[in-house]
Amino acid sequence: MTKPKIAVFASGSGSNYQAIFEAIEKGELICDLALLITDQPSAKVIEKAQDNNTAYAAFQLSDYATKADFESAVLEQLRSYKVDWIILAGYMRLIGPTLLQAYERKIINIHPSLLPAFPGLDAIGQAFQAGVKVTGVTIHYVDEGMDTGKIIAQEPVRISSNSNKQHLQEQIQRIEHQLYPETIQQVIT
Ligand code: GRF
Repeated sequence: MTKPKIAVFASGSGSNYQAIFEAIEKGELICDLALLITDQPSAKVIEKAQDNNTAYAAFQLSDYATKADFESAVLEQLRSYKVDWIILAGYMRLIGPTLLQAYERKIINIHPSLLPAFPGLDAIGQAFQAGVKVTGVTIHYVDEGMDTGKIIAQEPVRISSNSNKQHLQEQIQRIEHQLYPETIQQVIT
């Protein structure tokens, strides 16, 4: 049986991309990591993809007349690699109608809060500012909204009174690196 093909989309450091890569290497996640897509040609995740020999492609929105043109170029690349699933991992851009229609219910995202609390940018900072005692990680299907799609998995993290933002970020990332590969495995098989 052929393995499902995934593309990871990332804009930043790529620790979740790395966790997905390692889970595949260990045989815990059974799929083919066909391609990394980034919208940031200088993103750290590219170095990780090079080290791991993952094929990658960088697309800059400013090189295209419209976002639809940008997404059409990305889509062409995904099709050439026969990608079945899009896995967003720190991809800092809303997915538009071109990709949403082509990959209906086949795009998932990870977000560092218990959605619907603290959507959007700096969810960890937002939780800290709000003074909540529990936050966490959410994995969800992607729709046209900002972190609004149907929730697939969540895991809570307690914020202790002497915690700080960096510590919380480390706690959250540790959970993300475990929960995302496990959840991807459940969703794509
Ligand atoms: C993660 O915290 C993820 O939840 C959010 O962006 C961050 C990406 O981190 N969407 P990394 O680039 O995978 O290290």
